[in-house]
Amino acid sequence: MPGFEVFGEEEKKEIMDVLETGVLFRYEFGEQRKGIFKVRSFEEKFASYCGTNHGQAVTSGTAALKVALAVMGVGPGDEVITQGFTFVATWEAIFDVGAVPVFTEIDETLNMDPADLEKKITAKTRAIIPVHMLGAPARIKEIKVIADKHGIPVLEDTAQAAGGTIDGKRLGSFGLCGTFSFDAVKTMTTGEGGMIVTDDENLWRQMSEYHDHGHDHAVNPGGRGGEGRSFIGFNYRMMELQGAMGLAQLAKLDGMIASQKKNKAALKEAAAKIPGVSFRTILDEEGDTATFLGFFLPDADTAKKVNAVLRENGAGAIAFGENTWHFYPKWEHLLAGSTLARSGWPFNDEYSKRRVVYDADVLPASAAIMNRLLVYQVPVNLSGEQLAKMTAALGKAAEVL
Ligand SMILES: Cc1ncc(COP(=O)(O)O)c(C=O)c1O
Repeated sequence: MPGFEVFGEEEKKEIMDVLETGVLFRYEFGEQRKGIFKVRSFEEKFASYCGTNHGQAVTSGTAALKVALAVMGVGPGDEVITQGFTFVATWEAIFDVGAVPVFTEIDETLNMDPADLEKKITAKTRAIIPVHMLGAPARIKEIKVIADKHGIPVLEDTAQAAGGTIDGKRLGSFGLCGTFSFDAVKTMTTGEGGMIVTDDENLWRQMSEYHDHGHDHAVNPGGRGGEGRSFIGFNYRMMELQGAMGLAQLAKLDGMIASQKKNKAALKEAAAKIPGVSFRTILDEEGDTATFLGFFLPDADTAKKVNAVLRENGAGAIAFGENTWHFYPKWEHLLAGSTLARSGWPFNDEYSKRRVVYDADVLPASAAIMNRLLVYQVPVNLSGEQLAKMTAALGKAAEVL
C-alpha cells in the first residue's frame, strides 16, 4: 500500500486516451468521445474482478457507503450497526442518511465481533456494516448467518481491502452490497474515488440514478437517456480521468498484493523475535491483501515500551489505540455530539431533543485489544535498506524485553 508506488506508463496511456477526446464527463458527448467510456469500463471490469454482476463508480469510498445506504432505504428512525474500529467515514455515512450508528466490539481479527453484533441487534436495526480493516477480512460468514437469521442486509465496507478473499471469494461480494475506496493512500488508487458492487440489478439501477441527481437511466441502464425522475438524488459522479486511473491500477492490483505479501512475510519474521509477541488473526492467509502487519504485545505497557524502542531506532509502529481517526474512544466530535446544524442534528432530533449519546467507555474489550496492538504499513516496494532498518529496530526491541 499504496498504489502510487507503481504509477507508470499504463496510467499515463489511459489518461491520455481521455485527454485526447477532451471528454471528462462519464455520460453523453456523442461522437466526440470516440467510443471511450473509461468509468463504465472500470465499473464492468471491477465488478467482474469481484465476481459480482454490477459495479457503480462514485466520487469516494464515503460516497459509496452513502449511496449504498440510500438505495437500501436506510433513513431516520433506523439503526445501523458497525464496529468501533473503523475510519470515521463509515459512521459519517450512517448519520448522513439520517440513521444512528451503533458500535460493536472487535476481536483479534481487528474486525466486528459476531457475538457482540448479536447483542446489539434491535427492532430498529436496518443494516449491518462489517469493515474489513487494514486489508484483512472480518468474520463475514458468521456475520452473514446472524444477519440472515434476523433478516437484516449486510453492507461490507471494503474500503481498505480491495482484492482480498475468503475461500477464494472476494471481500465485498458476500453482502447485499460491498463498497470500496480508491483514495490517494489505498492499494489501488484513482486519487479520489469509490465503487459499490452488488448482484442485485434493481439496487444497481437505483444507485445509478441516485448518484446522478435521480436522472432517469431506465431506457439506458448504467447510462443516461430518459427524461423523468423517480426519486431525488445527488451528484456523486466519478469522472473519466478517475475511471482511466482505475483501469490501469486494477490491472496492477494482484501484482501489488503479491509484493505486499512477500514484504509482510519478511517483516513478520523479524517481529516474531520479540518475546511474547503474537499476531493479528487472519482468517484466510491466502486472501490477505497484506497491506498491514498487526502484532500484539502481552499488555499495553509492553506495547508502549516496544514502540518507544522502535521509534528510537527509526522504525516506529502505528499505535491505533492512540489514533484519533480510527478508534471509537478517540472520536471526540462523536462523543461530544459536535455538529454545525442549529438543531444539533444528527445527535438531536428536529426538535433539538437528544436522540443519541455516545459514551467513551462502552467498548472495553476493543480497548484492551487496541492498547496492546502495534501495526506496520506494508509497502509495495520495500527496499533492502528499509527492511534492514526495520529488522534491526525489531531486534533491539526484542533485546530490551
Ligand atoms: C474503512 C473505511 N471506510 C471508508 C473510507 C472512506 O473512503 P474515502 O476516503 O474514499 O472517502 C475509508 C478511507 O480511508 C476507510 O478506511
